[in-house]
Amino acid sequence: MTQDFWDTRFGGEDYVYGTEPNAFLRTQAFRLAPGARVLLPGDGEGRNGVWLAEQGMDVLSVDASEVGLAKARRLAVARGVRIATERADLVRWEWPRAAFDAVVSAFLHLAPEDRKIVHRAIAASLRPGGVVILEAFRPEQLAHASGGPRDAAMLYAPEVLRADFDGLEVLVCEAALDPLDEGTFHSGPAATVRFVAKRP
Ligand SMILES: C[S@@+](CC[C@H](N)C(=O)[O-])C[C@H]1O[C@@H](n2cnc3c(N)ncnc32)[C@H](O)[C@@H]1O
Repeated sequence: MTQDFWDTRFGGEDYVYGTEPNAFLRTQAFRLAPGARVLLPGDGEGRNGVWLAEQGMDVLSVDASEVGLAKARRLAVARGVRIATERADLVRWEWPRAAFDAVVSAFLHLAPEDRKIVHRAIAASLRPGGVVILEAFRPEQLAHASGGPRDAAMLYAPEVLRADFDGLEVLVCEAALDPLDEGTFHSGPAATVRFVAKRP
């Protein structure tokens, strides 16, 4: 997807994926201690990054859309917290190495070659003991109208994630079929993969 696509999607006043955090992230946040340094690649309008900042985390949100990041900063101010933001194409970004206690990736759908680059970079950006927490649509989502790309190549099967993150210890890897209630564009029963893995 191009930056123009996301700038347009985020161009209105509404937060199109809502202002509450992703439900799976909420269930996994127990893994993060206050003060943890957390990277959110593709944080969009910032619902997840701002919520983690409210839990006491040190947050960096990186996204291709400055329109989205400006809304993320506004949400942070409204909630009385600070987040750092950086506009970048994650495929070409100079990823910090061994720098984060956690990386949270929510619905960051990329074409296969880009996905492999970004997922490898996520793994390398974790400190030893750091975790990646990820939710994304599975190919089975093509049967549902509740969100996500309409291109099977951009959807992630559980075994794809296991292969992408093969140097990490997998803690959670489950195919879910639950209703999503995340703003206008993620609404209704959805086929997702939920994944957590730890850098040894
Ligand atoms: C479906 S939205 C999800 C936003 C947010 N994670 C959430 O769950 O609310 C996907 C986000 O990924 C970002 N994105 C997609 N490809 C990207 C890339 N190559 N580099 C940086 N950001 C990208 C988009 O700008 C968009 O904000």
